[in-house]
Amino acid sequence: MFDTLIPPEPDKILRLMAMYAADTRPDKVDLGVGVYRTPDGRTPVMAAVKQAEGRILADQATKSYTGLAGDPAFHSAMRNLILGETVDVGRIAAVATPGGTGAVRQVLELTKRLTPDATIWISTPTWPNHPSIISYLGLNHREYRYYDTATGGLDRSGMLADLEQAKPGDLILLHGCCHNPTGVDLQEGDWVEIAALCQRTGAIPFVDLAYLGFANSLEDDAAGTRLMAAAVPEMLIAASCSKNFGLYRERVGVVLAVTSGGTAQAAAQGMLAYLNRQNYAFPPDHGARVVQTILNDHTLRDMWRDELRGMRDGMNAMRTRFAAALREHAGSDRFGFIAGHRGMFSLIGATPEQVATLRDKHGIYLVGDGRMNIAGLTPDKVDYVARAVAQVLA
Ligand code: LMR
Repeated sequence: MFDTLIPPEPDKILRLMAMYAADTRPDKVDLGVGVYRTPDGRTPVMAAVKQAEGRILADQATKSYTGLAGDPAFHSAMRNLILGETVDVGRIAAVATPGGTGAVRQVLELTKRLTPDATIWISTPTWPNHPSIISYLGLNHREYRYYDTATGGLDRSGMLADLEQAKPGDLILLHGCCHNPTGVDLQEGDWVEIAALCQRTGAIPFVDLAYLGFANSLEDDAAGTRLMAAAVPEMLIAASCSKNFGLYRERVGVVLAVTSGGTAQAAAQGMLAYLNRQNYAFPPDHGARVVQTILNDHTLRDMWRDELRGMRDGMNAMRTRFAAALREHAGSDRFGFIAGHRGMFSLIGATPEQVATLRDKHGIYLVGDGRMNIAGLTPDKVDYVARAVAQVLA
């Protein structure tokens, strides 16, 4: 029977990972998949993670199951990290999930049970797995304008005009910070506008927070999500610890559902636990335990914050440096927007053909839409990549 299967094409990020792995050129440059790299090209285990793992190894007395929703200590650590004191604890339902993708999936599973006819509004462009999972679950989506290719910034009026069409119960999918793939983040005033729009239309904000701490600071990067949570009666959050804790392969994520409290909170908690049970029973524990160990210990938390700050500062410095190198090679400020973007990614405005030329001729791997992982650039490659980009996109 299996020979009748037609495997779907892997998405463009996964396709690129496979192409990069198969390329035998020694000088190839991986600016594709969203993985952080040190200046010498490594993706190390963070020191705070190592220490937490040491403690867990020494102290853990059982590997028996945790609860279906995961460990409540993990929920509260993540709730505090993301929402601080913004929302009364009694209003929040939480479950641990396998990674941020697992969290996105469980939010959409919840939507399928709750409001199957809702439209999920996604930005143009967005992370390719968003529309893919939405369609896979048989849900509907529509796009809202987001990226302004002319300025490399936000198409604010286009975004607000499109979102104004949202109906009660629709989900508006927002990137909490470090928008993937554009690098263009919502500013405080945008969050205020969208919060007011949600209240006016009855749409539910759904924040995907995969890069908390990668833009400006932990507090600043959570500010939009908090502002929203303080303003609206109900909201959904899917967060990942892949990047900010470097726990990619451990698959650590969380869903936070902000409800009106009481029976609504209990219903959401029960349904999220049920959905975990149906999909994988108990969520993975090791990475989540590492995260709660770090966040609940002053020394480890400070150590982690410092390491995270170092990664963030490195990425932002690399943005400035790359933009300067591009200015030099292009002889103009046309790529200046890269310095002001945040997170790992920027859309550099390359056509699919130009992306193919960068790859085939120069061994530089970008996602087909022209998304570049700035965190994949190492100091020894900045000039090489800037020269090639300036030449190919001339
Ligand atoms: C990315 O966007 O490159 C990462 O989030 C990895 C992935 O799963 O796509």
